[in-house]
Amino acid sequence: MTVLKQIRNRASNVLDMLANELIRSEGEGFGKTPRKLMKTKMASPEADVKRLIMTANSLEDIWQFLVERLRSGSEPEFMIFSIVDEVSELFRLRYLALPDTNKNFQGEFIPLCDKSNHFVKTVLRTDTTFTNELIDLGREVLPYLPARSREKENIFSIPLVAGNRTIAVITLGFEALDSFSQAKLSYTYLLRDQLAQVVWNLILQERILNQPQLDNLTGLITYSSFHQVFQKELRRAKFEKYPLSLVLLDINDLKIYNTQYSHQMGDRALARLASIIKHHVRGIDTIARYGNDEIAVIIPETDITCVVQTTEALIEAVNEPHKSVKPFTISAAIVTYPNDSLELDSLMQIAENTLQFGKHKSDETRSSSITLATDLAQASDQDRIEVFTEQIARKYGETGSELFETLMRRIEKDAQLENENLMLETVASLAGAMDAKDKYTRGHSQSVANYAVALSHAVGLLPAEVEKIRLAAFFHDIGKIGIPESILNKPGPLTVAEKEIMDQHPVIGAQQILYPVTALRDIVPLVEYHHERWDGEGHPARLKGENIPMGARIVSIVDAFHALTSDRPYRKAMPLDQAMAILQEGAGSIWDPNLIQKFSDLVQSARCAITV
Ligand SMILES: [Fe+2]
Ligand SMILES: [Fe+2]
Repeated sequence: MTVLKQIRNRASNVLDMLANELIRSEGEGFGKTPRKLMKTKMASPEADVKRLIMTANSLEDIWQFLVERLRSGSEPEFMIFSIVDEVSELFRLRYLALPDTNKNFQGEFIPLCDKSNHFVKTVLRTDTTFTNELIDLGREVLPYLPARSREKENIFSIPLVAGNRTIAVITLGFEALDSFSQAKLSYTYLLRDQLAQVVWNLILQERILNQPQLDNLTGLITYSSFHQVFQKELRRAKFEKYPLSLVLLDINDLKIYNTQYSHQMGDRALARLASIIKHHVRGIDTIARYGNDEIAVIIPETDITCVVQTTEALIEAVNEPHKSVKPFTISAAIVTYPNDSLELDSLMQIAENTLQFGKHKSDETRSSSITLATDLAQASDQDRIEVFTEQIARKYGETGSELFETLMRRIEKDAQLENENLMLETVASLAGAMDAKDKYTRGHSQSVANYAVALSHAVGLLPAEVEKIRLAAFFHDIGKIGIPESILNKPGPLTVAEKEIMDQHPVIGAQQILYPVTALRDIVPLVEYHHERWDGEGHPARLKGENIPMGARIVSIVDAFHALTSDRPYRKAMPLDQAMAILQEGAGSIWDPNLIQKFSDLVQSARCAITV
């Protein structure tokens, strides 16, 4: 500590002592209050507080009472009422009164670890504290004070103490220390113990009302409480300079799991995941239900290697067979402060992006996976676009994994008209057929569906139309079920005869497979015409321009894009720029030029949007 600081500290201690002396002596001789103040009913504080205890319903009532009493006569330059939030370890500024105006602070706070702050000093000393430096109040307060108060002030903070600790602080700022200000300080000082009692009751009441909401199924805190804890932990991590990790865990394909087993089984899986996590993390870690099928864990003061080890142990436990829960897999995403980002919002966004990215891995391997934000940082543009479009699809529609539920809903609606069992069987076999196809086809259908939703939204189509296009995109190649494997997976170019067979897949899919299912009849033209060309040179109907249904034109573009950017039996995946160049070249001949423009913009924004 520098000599200057030592002198300053000693001087400030002396000032605090003087302040307390001043208040106490004035308090004892309260009867000597100047005549002018006597008129302002300040002479009977005990009676005042008794009335207050009977009537106050909120902290604001306390504040109103104080302002009313302290404003009479010559009023302080400013008055501040704050409470100590032990749960969040914050000093929360609540109310402010300036001459003639009352204001509420907008959620400003000072971390209790900031021991150089005047308010925090008051909290720790549990005794009246003095300063004449406005800056000591913290930068959070200054913008609220009028310019004329920005010079030197006589600032006193009187703590309200309950159970030996400070629970709230009343701060008064005076331009001059005269008999008026002394009388007001004495008044507040005299009331402090009784005020503390009523304030403590009201703080407890507030706490009960704002208690973290617990999720019924898992017993974990809910998303909104999670957000508060994450804010607090991040502040602490910044202040104490230690790493902080956020792990998002998500049950893979929960919708399919629910459909396959039951919703009750899905709930059991989620509850089991929650209980496994509870057994694997420490008391200082926080577990929350983050979303429908997601759980978040906040892990402070821990090296990333340990966080990964804990997550691996979790996955191992999930993989162990359980007598009353069917097996399920999870995707885990890990982000860490300060490595991945310094800010809360971006940490959460990166965590969600990383989770989406990791789900692709799980989709491919059908097993649980852990993905770090750094994995996403190293991802290719193609992968970023996949993640981006899947997010749009999630936001605006449903993704491939939720198709079964949507289909079932459609079927249920139609069930009154048709033979319900037959319809369900047909759809179940359709879904099964899609699932049984090779890995490429399965991924292709889902990606094309996601891209189609993203492009449909970019065009501004209505939700019902988007859903139709999504289903059509998912089933666009269903007719390939009828094409021999030797042609489908041929490594070289197709002969004319083979091409003729291959070209039948839109009609087989539309007319033979989808048309009999009433619930899917509206997507038949979209599937049938997904190989038509803008210039009328496509197949099977040689439709031209806008005669081709919009949904079919959209599917045609995103189908080509995904085909170009993925490995095929006869060639390797093409770099993104090359694929986009091919699409641009075909604008106006193969594809709708307006839609190509929209798609190109979408790809550009996707490249920028998913960043780490
Ligand atoms: Fe096709
Ligand atoms: Fe296709």
